[in-house]
Order: sequence, then C-alpha cells, then structure tokens
Amino acid sequence: MNMAQLFEKKKHGKELSQEEIKYFVEGYTNDSIPDYQASSLLMAIRLMGMTDEETFYLTKAMIESGDVIDLTSIKGFKIDKHSTGGVGDKVTLIVTPIIAALGIPVAKFSGKGLGITGGTIDKMESIRGMRTELSSQEFIDNVNKHKIAVAGQTGNLVPADKKIYALRDVTGTVDSIPLIAASIMSKKIASGADGIVLDVKCGSGAFMKTQEEAKKLADAMTAIGEKLGRKVVAHISDMDNPLGRMIGNKLEVVEAHALLSGRMEETHADLLEECVIISSLMYQVAAGADEQTATAAVKRVLEDGSALAKFEEFIVAQGGDVADIVQNDTAHKVAVTAQQGGIVDTINALLVGEASVALGAGRLTKESALDYDAGIQLVAKKGDKVAAGDTIAYLYSNSEITQDTINKVQSAYKMA
Ligand code: URA
Repeated sequence: MNMAQLFEKKKHGKELSQEEIKYFVEGYTNDSIPDYQASSLLMAIRLMGMTDEETFYLTKAMIESGDVIDLTSIKGFKIDKHSTGGVGDKVTLIVTPIIAALGIPVAKFSGKGLGITGGTIDKMESIRGMRTELSSQEFIDNVNKHKIAVAGQTGNLVPADKKIYALRDVTGTVDSIPLIAASIMSKKIASGADGIVLDVKCGSGAFMKTQEEAKKLADAMTAIGEKLGRKVVAHISDMDNPLGRMIGNKLEVVEAHALLSGRMEETHADLLEECVIISSLMYQVAAGADEQTATAAVKRVLEDGSALAKFEEFIVAQGGDVADIVQNDTAHKVAVTAQQGGIVDTINALLVGEASVALGAGRLTKESALDYDAGIQLVAKKGDKVAAGDTIAYLYSNSEITQDTINKVQSAYKMA
C-alpha cells in the first residue's frame, strides 16, 4: 500500500478501506508520510467526500493514534458537551455548573480559541489563579468531589488530529464535513465521557453557513458517536449573530457570572435561552429525563442560586479567584455609534469576531498572545431600536484601537 494509490482512489470518488485509512492516519502521525502526500489526500477527501463508513474508520484510527482517558473511577454517567465554535459563545461556562448542580458529573476537556471562535480554556485562564492543566488524578478527584472539572486537552490525546488539523488549516481543507466530524468526535470519544451534547453552530460566524450543512455535520457526528457506544444528541443553533452581549475572554466570564446571578440586564435573553436548551439536553441524555422535566430542573437551579454556587465552587476548586470576576479597565475604550437609525436586523458574527481578534481577544496563529481584557460589548442587539448616532457597541483593548476595527463593528450592524 502507498499514498499515491490512496489519493488516486479518492480523487476518482472511490471508497477507501479501513486498512487504507488506518495506514494514512498511522503513517502521517509517525512522520513516515510527508505533508505533500497527506495534503493531496485531504484535498481529495474535501472535494469527493467520505461515506459514513469511511468517516467512522477515520475517527476510529484517529482515536487509536493516542491515549484514551479512562473515567471509569468517576461514579455515574459522565456528560460532556461540545460547540463547533462561535462568537460570544460562553455556553460551557454556564451549562457545566448547571448540570453539576443537578448532581450529574461533568468531565470536560476544552480547547483554546483559534481565529474568530473563542475557546473555554482561554476564558478560564483570564480569571486570576485559575488552572486549566490538571493531572488526571486531580481531574477525577474534582469531578468526584465537586461534580465538575474542565481542563485543557492533555499531550497525547488524538495526536493524529493535532497534525492533521494543522495541515488542514494551511491547505484549504478545514471545511469538510467528514474531516470536521472525525476531528471533533475523535477528541470527544477519547476524552472518555458516556454522553455528549453537540451544539452545532450555523451562520456567518460558524464553519457551517447553512442549515443543510449544519444538519449534515450533526448527523455525521451523532452516527459516529452511536457506533462507538456513546449517547449523542445534537442541537443546531444560530451563529449569524454573536451570542449574548460580550465577546472577549474576561468579558465573557463576567457575562456568564451575571447570567448565573440573575443579572439579566448585563446579558441577553438569547444566551439564557441557548443555555437552557443545551443544559436541558445534557440532563435528558445523562438522567434519561423527558424534555419538560429536564427544562424545569435546569430553571430551578438557575433560580435558586445553586448553579451560581456551583460555578464559584468550580472556580475555587481549580485555583481561581472569584473576586477577580470583574471587568477591568483597558487602556483604550471606544464607543461605536450607529450610522443610521432603525431596528437592528442582524449583527454579522463574522465581522464582530474579526474585530475581536484585532482588539487582542483572539488568536491569528496558535502562538499569538491574548489580551484577556480586550473585546466587544454589544449595547444594541438584534431587534433593538436605535437612532443614528446612538452608541451600539463598546470596544475595549490594551492596544491602540484602529479605525478599521471600529468600521468593522459599525458595518456589522444591519438595520431593518
Ligand atoms: N473543530 C475541531 O476540533 N475540528 C475541526 O475540524 C473543526 C472544528
């Protein structure tokens, strides 16, 4: 077997066998297959697609490329969630303490942000003292004691994905449904949870731009999970508009805390609604509850303060300082005003995401340093009435804020 046979076959739309897929994944991970041959195969997959069987074998080979986390010493049904990435998506920070407050163990491994999509690990690290690198024993002990631990992915979890993703990122092969499905599901399965709720984002600020694509990705991921013996549910949510009011690491932590504290004036109903849906699904999967019972349970722990108490317990358990959950002043702050009056119809999530990266809240490359306090506050949201000249957003940064960034946020607002 050799790589030329594989990419010739895929180039003509033929199906690869399990052995061929394994050969590629093993060979590329152990450096015996060069980048140029791997990228040729990835491009053929991007253009010709993969069957469900091929996607499953790809996921399986990727899982087998590294360690699989053993969570069997945690009692109960372990639940995880994954978002395919969005702008202002701080849902994990809110739903994980809700579920833990309901007594369900949450064992979650999260990633750093790249490009316009933020990452939970960066948000957590914006809190003074908060540790995201936990030994496996500490991770397990925290879940057993507090019902919640969220940590960065460990060194040898799906090494094949690290290499393949880095190559896809620079060869125009990220936007492939089978490759995304295998990449996400290999990491989720290797992380050891029994059930996974997938939040598939759809719209201008997401990988999937249409409902049809989002549905295909959701179906591909649930099929893989079920074949590997996990309970998986997917929900498709809007990412044409940023979620909530805040975009930026510390700003999003402050917003999550405000929502859990019931200070709705500091956040927005779209975020609350999304968090109730996702946590209700997590509870349905983990506890076998019906939708009505699960949603009522979620609302109860939000209203009685136990989700907030769990959030603070989780921060302290991982070394974080709850008193540091405050918006810090930044060296620069700019008010963005509406060019014209009307009702806000959409706030283009892609443009807002790009502006947040320019302010220092996101990374352009894996090595970029972050400004944890940088970001955007959306004063006006979809459906709000504004007059020309009204402040619609604030930009925060510790670096100079350019006119280009201001224009980007201004032009993201489309009035009806
Ligand atoms: N997130 C991932 O982890 N992998 C992809 O391929 C795309 C998004």
